[in-house]
Amino acid sequence: MSQTLTKFSQRRRWAADQAISFLMQQGVEHPHVVSLAAGLVDPGSLPVAEAIEAARDVLSDDLRARSALQYGTTQGDLRLRRQLVDYHNRLEQTSTLAASRTVTADEIVCTTGSQQLLALLADALLDPGDICLVAAPTYFVFLGVLEGVGARAIALPADEHGLRMDALTAELQRLESVGELSRVKLIYVVSEFENPTGISLSLERRAELVEIAKHWSQRRGETIYVLEDAAYRELHYGPPSWGRFSTCPPTGVTNSNDGHVENLPHDPSVWSFDVAGDTVIHAGTFSKSFAPGLRVGFALMPRELRDAVNDLKGNQDFGSANFNQHLLAELLASGRFATHAEEVRAAYRIKRDAMLSAADEFFSDLPGVSWVHPHGGLYVWMSLPPQVATGFDSTLFCRAVDVEQVMYVPGELCFGGPREQRERNHMRLSFGVQSPDGIREGMRRLSRAVRAVL
Ligand SMILES: Cc1ncc(COP(=O)(O)O)c(C=O)c1O
Repeated sequence: MSQTLTKFSQRRRWAADQAISFLMQQGVEHPHVVSLAAGLVDPGSLPVAEAIEAARDVLSDDLRARSALQYGTTQGDLRLRRQLVDYHNRLEQTSTLAASRTVTADEIVCTTGSQQLLALLADALLDPGDICLVAAPTYFVFLGVLEGVGARAIALPADEHGLRMDALTAELQRLESVGELSRVKLIYVVSEFENPTGISLSLERRAELVEIAKHWSQRRGETIYVLEDAAYRELHYGPPSWGRFSTCPPTGVTNSNDGHVENLPHDPSVWSFDVAGDTVIHAGTFSKSFAPGLRVGFALMPRELRDAVNDLKGNQDFGSANFNQHLLAELLASGRFATHAEEVRAAYRIKRDAMLSAADEFFSDLPGVSWVHPHGGLYVWMSLPPQVATGFDSTLFCRAVDVEQVMYVPGELCFGGPREQRERNHMRLSFGVQSPDGIREGMRRLSRAVRAVL
């Protein structure tokens, strides 16, 4: 039998060897490992009863059922988009600045998780060699998306207030001086409880970021868009409830809330500072606050980008799962989503505290080890002394997985830019999946692995 070779596209070759596949494989090959790596949500609080009730409501009305089971539109179900208008506008209006910018249903596109939007935007905006400015570190799957379209990620320093605006300006100046400003198309920020650090962009920097993007867009004569990824916006817990910190907790909200998203002292989005509506894309998702299995995300976008994304999405799927959108519209309208989001926050707050408490218990005597105290999200970012590498090929990773049976995400995956310049001594630890006891056990095992290599 003659054998033929497949000549894959350049895009397929760029997409090869993504770390996420290796991590998933490790999970399957080591089923007894306590995973502090998986970014999955808490299995115990998945909204089974709420989903059943919403499905019953949608399906028990014949007309509605037939509409939900039919193809939808590329842009997304109108009822859901109207619910999203209320949801988003309320969040903005009840923020610390009571932002006055409001959205309309026409500006919203519903996507298959926010991940689809990230990929569609990369397709819509980036040619091979184009530049996207990101924080160091940032969401590693998006770095894969950038690689997948042949774009360059330039990683800029961040601190306890998020991406540093002085560094952003300096980089734009440098790129202009070397004739590369025209390659800059996008600035990507995870504005709330960043994956992996748990740090949010400060209020001042949100405003400044929009100003900088607009200033440099004018200077180069084409828009440099800001992509605000707000995947963790609803996962807001306030500061941990005790004071033995190894590093100062990042600035953020105070603990005076009653658990209602609207009543939390949350910041207005970066999007709300873009009054002209021509610069910022806001990506939201119900994966973290409700159920990732529904794969419902949404985006607020400048008009020309919305048209571009709709065209590309039309080629891909001509609309995300219509039934799931109907479910979510029902969940938002009935108030079941809001009630569930409160329960989820309460569950994660306990887990976040369990991980920080275990970090104190098992790591605080280790010299040169520090960690962020997130006020939300799903992750604790831990830094080891600079000489201790944490990557897949490191002594620590092998010891953690093979001997101690615990897994984490190596921090170096979260750094864009040249491999040799990436920081290698961090770990992303997720408190999403394990129970509080599982978190403590995972942290105990991990501390033993760290002690062994220190
Ligand atoms: C920062 C960030 N953005 C986007 C996503 C994509 O989530 P989804 O596609 O489920 O909405 C994730 C998932 O973990 C994430 O952490």
